[in-house]
Amino acid sequence: MTTPFKFNSEFELAESLARSGGALIKEAFHKPKNIDLKSSTIDLVTETDTAVEAMILSAITKNFPTHKFIGEETVAASGGQKVEITDDPTWVVDPVDGTTNFVHSFPYPCVAIGFMNNQIVEFGVIYNPINNEMFTAKLGHGAFLNNQKITTSPASPEAVQGSLLITEIGSDKNAKKLDLVFGNMNSLLQAGAHGFRSLGSCAMNMCAVACGRADAFYEAGMHIWDYCGAGLIVREAGGSTIDMNGGELDLCARRIIAASNSGLAVDISKNIESIELERD
Ligand code: IPD
Repeated sequence: MTTPFKFNSEFELAESLARSGGALIKEAFHKPKNIDLKSSTIDLVTETDTAVEAMILSAITKNFPTHKFIGEETVAASGGQKVEITDDPTWVVDPVDGTTNFVHSFPYPCVAIGFMNNQIVEFGVIYNPINNEMFTAKLGHGAFLNNQKITTSPASPEAVQGSLLITEIGSDKNAKKLDLVFGNMNSLLQAGAHGFRSLGSCAMNMCAVACGRADAFYEAGMHIWDYCGAGLIVREAGGSTIDMNGGELDLCARRIIAASNSGLAVDISKNIESIELERD
């Protein structure tokens, strides 16, 4: 028997906020966007990112005034304040994961919400309003796409040989980092991977693994709000999430391997070089 879930009110609010945020993204999707730059010329933010985060933060503050909030645009507005994970109930939010997708009307932006308590991720809600896909998971209760149970692909190999992989180049154009990124792709292809795909959103990439559309995703450079909720969705779908260095997943290290099964996750880690980044 599954144990009752303690955070149903928070989960319901998250789902409804993801839909409302999604509606704002959808409304603006084909219109010209006002773009600002953050850490680099390809780290973008639009007024929709800011508006969606403000709407989500205000609803959380109203409904759960004692909860903590870690949001992409709130952290950016603070000048990149360090993330502090405490035992308190904490919402981890990316209002638009895949901002570059959104800017170019490539149909994979999403609202990404994770919720932690006692430093454990209790639920994840990821919503792509363009294709109307709502991915959800509650800890210990499975993963779902539009309310249908999902699992990672049972046909996924347990090693790199024969796998379909997802990765991203990311928004850091530093030449040394790019060498590592392309070097890792090269190594995995030499190890027999069938090929690479990129959806332009860390959370969307992870949800693709969770529902069996690809065998694994890995990246270094994204932030806690990009993989906190989606990580739970992968694990609840039967997949494995580890650090790119082969160790335990670290939500502030800005690295992940999310795979259909643990054999594949470990084999990817053995074939790539981990990338050191400033922690969140
Ligand atoms: C980015 C996306 C992208 C990934 C970057 C992230 P954002 O998030 O997830 O796929 O490559 O590392 O920063 O900026 O669109 O929320």
